[in-house]
Amino acid sequence: MQLQDILFSQGFGTRRVCAGLVQQGRVSVSGVIRTLPAEEFEEDCLVFTVQGAQWPYQERAYLMLNKPAGTECSQKPSTYPSIYTLLPSPLRLRPQKGAVQGVQAVGRLDQDTTGMLLLTDDGKFIHRMSSPRHHVPKVYEVTTKHPIEGAQVQKLLEGVLLDDDPKPVRAAACERVGEAGEPSHHLRLTLTEGKYHQVKRMIAAVSNRVEGLHRSRIGALSLPEDLAPGQWRWLTADDLARIAS
Ligand code: URA
Repeated sequence: MQLQDILFSQGFGTRRVCAGLVQQGRVSVSGVIRTLPAEEFEEDCLVFTVQGAQWPYQERAYLMLNKPAGTECSQKPSTYPSIYTLLPSPLRLRPQKGAVQGVQAVGRLDQDTTGMLLLTDDGKFIHRMSSPRHHVPKVYEVTTKHPIEGAQVQKLLEGVLLDDDPKPVRAAACERVGEAGEPSHHLRLTLTEGKYHQVKRMIAAVSNRVEGLHRSRIGALSLPEDLAPGQWRWLTADDLARIAS
């Protein structure tokens, strides 16, 4: 693929802007500045540098973000800053089918929820991860207002009724975290679906209240401890295999 087309496909702007970046000597491949926009490269596994920042070529972009509190998962946020402002602009400008689409969040977290959020420009992946039929487990660390009782854990596992759903929704797994015999405000809840405010509504349905919510795991993939709030990283092929497993 031509270097200018590689840059275009990765979200570095229009073809004209990408050709300009190359002609101005701002792009290097294998440590060598390349100034011919039409120079051909094998794009698979290509790592190039644009204005000092290194980029791996990705046919489709898959990444995880540690969502900080006080951010909205919308492109057009109403009150808090958008999570998309935490990403470098090429990730927001990746073209798809002739239009600028950028990466999209796989499902949404509330503004006050923290933790693992996946983003991609692969529509099929979004569908697969979001569909209740695929039962991808998502693990939430819940801090509750009142101490958690055994009966509440039991009800969450058996199923609770939410106002807009005639069928009970149940946790795929639910455990009280803490010392046996000591009061605990920490619940680890696993869901395989993603209804609106689901955790908060389930906890309210058992007469408790969510004070803090953090998503620690999706599928077999845990949020890495060294990924600070607001930071993102690419998903590896191994991560992708583990999420779907
Ligand atoms: N459930 C909620 O109530 N909020 C979230 O952000 C995610 C799951």
